[in-house]
Amino acid sequence: MDYKELVEMALEAREMSYSPYSNFKVGAALLTKNGKVYKGCNIENAAYSPGNCAERTAIFKAVSEGEKDFAAIAIVGGPADNGELTICPPCGVCRQVINEFVDCEEFDIILGTNKPEDMKVYKLKELLPLGFGPGDLAK
Ligand code: THU
Repeated sequence: MDYKELVEMALEAREMSYSPYSNFKVGAALLTKNGKVYKGCNIENAAYSPGNCAERTAIFKAVSEGEKDFAAIAIVGGPADNGELTICPPCGVCRQVINEFVDCEEFDIILGTNKPEDMKVYKLKELLPLGFGPGDLAK
């Protein structure tokens, strides 16, 4: 799939963001190796800490439906009232959750905005160098 199309799907997911406390809306679109896309948004909570990021919403949706082979994730985010988005890098917890399921040298993290020319693609390894993963437990 074209990564610009995946960013479009992340923008669609962002529309579903439930973020009345931060007013910061995030959307993610997770591409599986067999071409399926799982969308996710951030979901906040009055007690604050139960809130969930867009990336983890997408990953948990996929894993809970039996899908664990992922190729890439597109992420978009920004203040609810801001028409001009800037790049929204994934938080550390989301980087760690992604690392559980993918090869960090292969998996692409696509950071986009509402302008296609802003798109940047990183390998997970660039954003999570020397990450701790399932292989470290098996040593
Ligand atoms: N957020 C995400 O959904 N993904 C990230 O990687 C960064 C932060 C959400 C969490 C919270 O609902 C809001 O953005 C402000 O931090």
